[in-house]
Amino acid sequence: MLKIIAMLIIAYLLGSIPSGVMIGKKFFNVDIRQSGSGNIGTTNTFRVLGPKAGTVVLVMDVLKGTLAASQPYLFQTPHVNPLLIGLAAIVGHTFSVFDHFKGGKAVATSAGILLAYNPPFFIIACAVFAILVFLTSRVSVASMSAMIIISIWSLFYHDLILTCVAVALTFFIFYRHRENIQRLKNGTESLIPFGYWYHH
Ligand code: G3P
Repeated sequence: MLKIIAMLIIAYLLGSIPSGVMIGKKFFNVDIRQSGSGNIGTTNTFRVLGPKAGTVVLVMDVLKGTLAASQPYLFQTPHVNPLLIGLAAIVGHTFSVFDHFKGGKAVATSAGILLAYNPPFFIIACAVFAILVFLTSRVSVASMSAMIIISIWSLFYHDLILTCVAVALTFFIFYRHRENIQRLKNGTESLIPFGYWYHH
C-alpha cells in the first residue's frame, strides 16, 4: 500500500512540472500563461514561442505521463495498473502544486500514459490525432475528436480499465477545453499554422 501511495505522489509531482511555463520563462522571458490562449501546453507554446520550444514542451509533457505510468514496471509492482498511477500525473498536470493548482488540458500527458501502457495503441492514437489536425486545422478539435475515437478504439483491446480511463479522460479533456468550445462556437478559435510562422 505504501508503495502505491509513493507512486501516486511521485506521479502527481511529475505531472505538476509546468514545462511550458518553465521553458517560456527561462529561455524567452515570456509567461506563456499571459499570451495566446493562456494555456501552458504544447499548442500554445508552438503558437507563442515557436516550433522548437513547442516540441520541447510536447516531449516533456508526454514524458511526464510516461515516466509516471512506468512506475509499476520500474518498482516491480505488476498488480498495480500503470494507467491508474498515470491518472495522478494528469491531476498534477491540470492542478499543479507548482502553479497555484492550475495547469494544462491533459492531452500530451494522457498520450504519455498510453505510451507507457500500450506503445502500439499510442502510435495509433498519435496517427489519429495527426490526421485530425491535418483535416480540421484546429488542435483543440483534433484533441477532443481523437479522444472519442481512441475511446471507441480501446474496445478492440478488451481491457475494461483502458476503456474506462479513455472515456473518463475524454470527458475530462472536453471539460478542460470548455473555453476552446466557446471560441469554436464564436468562430474565433485559432487555426494552424499559427501566426508565428508568418512572422519569423
Ligand atoms: O492540447 C491543448 C489544445 O487542444 C488546445 O490548446 O492553446 O489552443 O487552447 P489551446
